[in-house]
Amino acid sequence: MEIIKLERVGKVFETKGGKVHALKDINLSVKEGDIFGIIGLSGAGKSTLVRCINLLERPTTGKVIFKGKDLTQMREWELNRERRDISMIFQQFNLLMQRTALENICFPLEIAGVPKPKAVKRAKELLKVVDLEDRAMSYPSQLSGGQKQRVAIARALATNPKVLLCDEATSALDPKTTKAILQLLKDINEKFGITVIIITHEMNVIQQICHSVAIIDEGIIAEQGAVSEIFVSPKSEAAKRLVLPGGNRTEKFSGKRLIRIVFNGRSAYEPIIANMILACQAPVNIMYANTQSIEGESVGQMVLQLPLDDVEAGKLIGFLESKGVMFEEIEEVGADV
Ligand SMILES: Nc1ncnc2c1ncn2[C@@H]1O[C@H](COP(=O)(O)OP(=O)(O)OP(=O)(O)O)[C@@H](O)[C@H]1O
Ligand SMILES: [Mg+2]
Repeated sequence: MEIIKLERVGKVFETKGGKVHALKDINLSVKEGDIFGIIGLSGAGKSTLVRCINLLERPTTGKVIFKGKDLTQMREWELNRERRDISMIFQQFNLLMQRTALENICFPLEIAGVPKPKAVKRAKELLKVVDLEDRAMSYPSQLSGGQKQRVAIARALATNPKVLLCDEATSALDPKTTKAILQLLKDINEKFGITVIIITHEMNVIQQICHSVAIIDEGIIAEQGAVSEIFVSPKSEAAKRLVLPGGNRTEKFSGKRLIRIVFNGRSAYEPIIANMILACQAPVNIMYANTQSIEGESVGQMVLQLPLDDVEAGKLIGFLESKGVMFEEIEEVGADV
């Protein structure tokens, strides 16, 4: 069952310099209980998109359907009621600096009119969930970035939301802390069944926890689907930019006859390559190889350069096809990111 559906959502900002078309005809469908990633470069429209989901930003056109009802058609009071089911966390944590961790978590409960003792009890439970029981009385200035984000997550959960929107929630954190926060979001998704939407510009983040992903490029959804599928065969230019090797490389391989082979952890690709070279008596260059973990499964990719000679290249390709190896010809890899 889908919990959120965007239908033909467009957003135009009127600025002094003219109109900015931040979102164009966005169609998106998020299943209940999913961890859904939205990835794109800076300025692609990610924040605008996520703000349209809870109507912090009102779309210029289109529908935002939450649990089967169009939020854009609701009256203010009804919208406010539905919004309680959608929480948000941010890159800069947005904690109240004059309040302790515990008081920060109590804040949304106070606004909802929950009596203080009950709010404190709930806040303490949430501190346990985010593994910060011992920091209840700490002020944000006394906490690390990762701890601040944990408080922000606890605060976001206080009202028992159905959806948690995360706008670059790990972008201010180092890789190790990022991993821990992503694991926490995963635990929360599993334990409480909360649908999590992750906005990021990093493919690593998507690979670590998302099941589904949408790639946004200049206000358009370039591609969407299962993370594993898009990793194996990215179709759009935007997806290829994100998936193909090169994110952490500076040199560019280009030229003719590059093929990219994708394999999962269980397939024995190394003997296949070795056998291919033996069987075909033709040289290949291994330009790139790596293995990554996607949704807990290890997936690898390898870029080979085939000989320029058509007959030799044809033999190698024939060999791969005969072995049922998944591969595609590519033009170039190593785009600077
Ligand atoms: N309030 C606004 N008024 C005018 N233009 C805006 C406004 N908010 C966003 N934009 C424009 O809309 C486009 C998309 O911006 P948005 O903040 O959604 O991108 P983003 O993908 O979140 O980028 P980043 O990764 O840098 O956070 C940009 O061209 C931006 O300048
Ligand atoms: Mg943004």
